[in-house]
Amino acid sequence: MRALVCHRFGDYHDLKVEEFPAPRLPARGVRIAVEYASLSHSIKLWVAGKYQVKPPLPFVPGAEVVGRVIETAPEVAACRAGDRVMAIIGWGAYAEQAVSPESTVYPLPDSIDSAAALHLGVSYCTAYGGLRWRAGLQAGETLLVLGAAGGVGLAAVETGKALGARVIAAAGGAEKCALAREHGADATIDYKSEDLREALRRLTANRGVDVVFDPIGGALSEAALRSLVPGGRLVVIGFASGAMPKIEPNILLVKNVSVLGFNFGLYVGWSPVDERSRCEPQVRSLLRQLFDWHAAGRIRPLAAHVYPLERFCEALDALHARRTVGKVVLRVASR
Ligand SMILES: NC(=O)c1ccc[n+]([C@@H]2O[C@H](COP(=O)([O-])OP(=O)(O)OC[C@H]3O[C@@H](n4cnc5c(N)ncnc54)[C@H](OP(=O)(O)O)[C@@H]3O)[C@@H](O)[C@H]2O)c1
Repeated sequence: MRALVCHRFGDYHDLKVEEFPAPRLPARGVRIAVEYASLSHSIKLWVAGKYQVKPPLPFVPGAEVVGRVIETAPEVAACRAGDRVMAIIGWGAYAEQAVSPESTVYPLPDSIDSAAALHLGVSYCTAYGGLRWRAGLQAGETLLVLGAAGGVGLAAVETGKALGARVIAAAGGAEKCALAREHGADATIDYKSEDLREALRRLTANRGVDVVFDPIGGALSEAALRSLVPGGRLVVIGFASGAMPKIEPNILLVKNVSVLGFNFGLYVGWSPVDERSRCEPQVRSLLRQLFDWHAAGRIRPLAAHVYPLERFCEALDALHARRTVGKVVLRVASR
């Protein structure tokens, strides 16, 4: 099969599409003809050998796929050959065939196209899990989303609105702010030209925000943390800026605020965790709710950039250079 293969840990620019043996079907496994696979910042870390999980070499990167089931192991009940499914697999997505345990294969309704489904399965699950499961976001609360035009950021804007919050979207540049407004944000802050804390004071009549959704890290996180109301919550999603925020405990103490981590990978089970921390039924019922919201037009996943597998480096370069909005996906099927 055609696959993008990593032979040694290092720079992702060294990876090439080549012929590679198809993976073996595991017990309770499903083999999928991959149509699309998602791209994310973490791929750079997987390929550098610096991610929480280090696959045996050589390996095929890519964590999530959408495609058609080719075959299933005899005990599999969740899907059958011919079904269109999404699977969350950890690695192995950037190839014509991927295999997944049945537990992380999700059949797709006809109402959603394949690239948008990938966006729901990763970004919207992360947004919902971070906002609702971890931060307990309530209707009527004020939510600040950082990086609001990016993959998980735009998903958090729409999810926050669907959960009844007032959403302030913060992004770098007027066009990204306009996109966040199109996707439902009540107010926007362009942090390239405005000071985040001053703008938040203006937009909240000096009150502050109840919840911060933070996929960026660094100085913006620190400013957002200082803008929480007493009892506020900041959810750490990622560090797209490349910088860890400095969290000073005195700020947490003085205002009774909380900083919470959220890792969606723990819920689907491919992170290096104890079996008991998996929450597969919770993910399955969340996906059903997201498919319903999508069919009702309450969320509109934007897969704005689709690159063929051969242009993987160009796609990842664009992501790292902040030239993308919404979700970036790779088209793996040759057509
Ligand atoms: N915790 C989880 O379970 C989970 C799940 C999915 C993703 N993540 C993580 O969440 C983060 C965002 O993922 P994503 O898919 O939303 O990425 P994305 O589409 O690239 O969005 C990230 C946003 O970060 C902003 N940014 C600020 N400084 C940046 C920099 N130096 N380089 C690149 N972007 C920068 C950009 O917005 P502006 O230009 O507007 O500032 C960009 O739109 C990543 O770290 C990813 O690994 C975590």
